[in-house]
Order: sequence, then C-alpha cells, then structure tokens
Amino acid sequence: MPINQKECGLLWEFQYRRQFEWLKNTRRFLYRTTSIGIQGRVLEIGCSIALITEELSKKIDGLVIGLDSDLKTLLNAKRRQNKLLLVCGDAYYLPFKPETFGSVLFQFFLLWIKDPLSAIREMKKVLIPTGWVVSIAEPDYGGRIDFPATLDCSSFIINRLLEEGADPFVGRKLEYFFSKSSLVNVQWGLSSIPFGIELVKMNFDKEWNFVKKLAKPEMDPKLKGIKRMEKKFLKEEKRSYFMPVFYCMGRKKMT
Ligand SMILES: C[S@@+](CC[C@H](N)C(=O)[O-])C[C@H]1O[C@@H](n2cnc3c(N)ncnc32)[C@H](O)[C@@H]1O
Repeated sequence: MPINQKECGLLWEFQYRRQFEWLKNTRRFLYRTTSIGIQGRVLEIGCSIALITEELSKKIDGLVIGLDSDLKTLLNAKRRQNKLLLVCGDAYYLPFKPETFGSVLFQFFLLWIKDPLSAIREMKKVLIPTGWVVSIAEPDYGGRIDFPATLDCSSFIINRLLEEGADPFVGRKLEYFFSKSSLVNVQWGLSSIPFGIELVKMNFDKEWNFVKKLAKPEMDPKLKGIKRMEKKFLKEEKRSYFMPVFYCMGRKKMT
C-alpha cells in the first residue's frame, strides 16, 4: 500500500534520528578537529529536521544556521524548537554574503545532490578564508559487507537510490570533490557502526518497516524473501553487516 506524505515524513524523521545517534562520536571528533566551539558562525546545509543545527546551537556561543530547500521539514523543526535559526534556500545559490561563516557542514546531503562540485564551491564562497567545509557523513553502499553474503541487501538499496536520482557511491568520492574544489588540508576517513548480532536483532522490526514502506510494491516478494532469510540467520545467531560511511574536511585557502 502506498504511504502518504505525512507517513513518509515520519519515516525519514525516524531514520535521521537513528543516524544522528549513530554518528555522535564522529561529530564530536570533527567538531574538536575544526575547533567549532570558537567559531563565530556555522552553517548546516541540507539540515532537514535540523538535529545538528540544534545540537550545535546548544554547544557553541556563535550563530548557528540551518538551511534546507524543504520548507515543510524546516517548519516542523521550528515547531519542535522555536529558537532554531532556519533558512529555506538552495545550496547552489546560498542567500548569504561572501565570507560569512567559519564552518559549513552537512550530513547525508551530498548523495542527494546532482552537482556536488558546484554545491561545495558555493559553500566556499560563504566561508571566511581558512574556514572549514565539513562532510560529517556520506554513505557508500558499494562497500557494504553482509554476513552471510547470501543476504544481498545492497542491490536493493543501490537500485532504489539510483531511481531516486541519488548517488549511492558518493562516500568514496569525497576527497576528490574537496580537492577539486581547491580546499586545502583535506582529511578524510571512515566512521562506521559495525552492526553485530545484538544490534541487528534490536533493529530488525524497525529496519524492515522502513524498507517495506519505501519499497515499490513490485519489490515486495523479493524483499519478503530477504527478510525471511535474515530472520532465519538471526535465529542461528549468524548475522552481521558493515556499512561504510565517510567523513571529509577541508579548509578554504588563506587569501
Ligand atoms: C537526507 S536529508 C539530510 C538529513 C540531515 N542532514 C540529517 O542528517 O538528519 C537531505 C536534505 O537535503 C535537502 N536538499 C536537497 N537538495 C537541496 C538543495 N539543492 N538545497 C538545499 N537543500 C537541499 C533535502 O530537502 C533534504 O532535507
């Protein structure tokens, strides 16, 4: 049964909240490395429900702004926390003066962007010299490892993302995008949560609820097969997977 817009919004919110929790340590590391606490102004792009904007607003004294092109999600975030500074705008045409921010950051954003280089170059414009562009997390579904290997979950996710116009392999390209945009001191790496038996068991119902609702009806029999197989492996305590998520940071050159 197709889901309505409200259900779809709630599903994504559930997913963003989980990812937000899983990536807490990565953000802590990136905030420390870029000295985010002493920066005057920080911009989160593609903030959606603005969890990171809220986290940073509480953490630092400076000004923190979240930007997204989806007005509805911004209004929802504002209803949750009225103090948030949120702007509805387009990442390709940022509505800010040049050299406004000490850091521009984003999480699970670049995979949805058709032209990442233009988006990063636009971020650079609004950064002060020596300011940071920080990609907190971008996935690479091509690097997912499943045990047992017969449980092929990646193909479904990759195909679905490609149909939606997203790039499921964006993680491995981050260093290239950053260097090509003439950012310097580029540092990148992997942060991932190893999904072991207990975590997979704990997530089983929620994960499948999410997958089922987002899948097209014609995928149903195939997905049911994978779900059945996973259930069987869980009973045998024989299941784990690894989903690579990449971070990257780079600075605007001193002029
Ligand atoms: C996967 S969501 C980001 C989730 C959020 N960063 C988080 O981690 O919770 C991607 C967001 O990018 C936004 N977006 C996509 N293209 C955009 C653009 N050109 N300008 C601004 N926002 C854009 C979408 O509206 C969506 O809210």
